[in-house]
Amino acid sequence: MKKLVRHTDPVLYKKAESVKKVDDSLCGLIDDMFEIMKQSGGIGLAAPQIGESLQLAVIEMPKDMDKSEKLVLINPRITSAYGSETAVEGCLSLPGISVGVKRFKDIVVETQDFTGKVISYKAGGLLARAIQHEIDHLNGILIISKLSPVRRFIAKKKITKRIPVE
Ligand code: NI
Repeated sequence: MKKLVRHTDPVLYKKAESVKKVDDSLCGLIDDMFEIMKQSGGIGLAAPQIGESLQLAVIEMPKDMDKSEKLVLINPRITSAYGSETAVEGCLSLPGISVGVKRFKDIVVETQDFTGKVISYKAGGLLARAIQHEIDHLNGILIISKLSPVRRFIAKKKITKRIPVE
């Protein structure tokens, strides 16, 4: 199974490639992503975080939230956005760091289902935040990318837990 890449890996900082078709290998990758996310204690994971430069992300909200189902985002994009809210976020690629990030409060996101059909739905609250965080990953943007250079430098020093590399 794949593993999380280090925060220094260039794959995290470039725009991911579009998913061309959903086949067995993509489904296997999606299963692995849910597993890695669960093991790491995250609520969202984007494919570049495990070294796959693909427009693909998974989200699983905590069980006590309204939306507890598993979500797969394939070539997602935000088509409408409303309001704004700042909240502290963490990221599996940046262990030990939390950053206050301003996001849209409510969004409409367009994504593809397993047959390639484009579907659209509304999201608010933590789910909207998680989707925006993952779409940022697909565009090569991390939460520390939003900081000023000085704050980014300080934040990087706080990456304490190293992700083990084999
Ligand atoms: Ni993240």
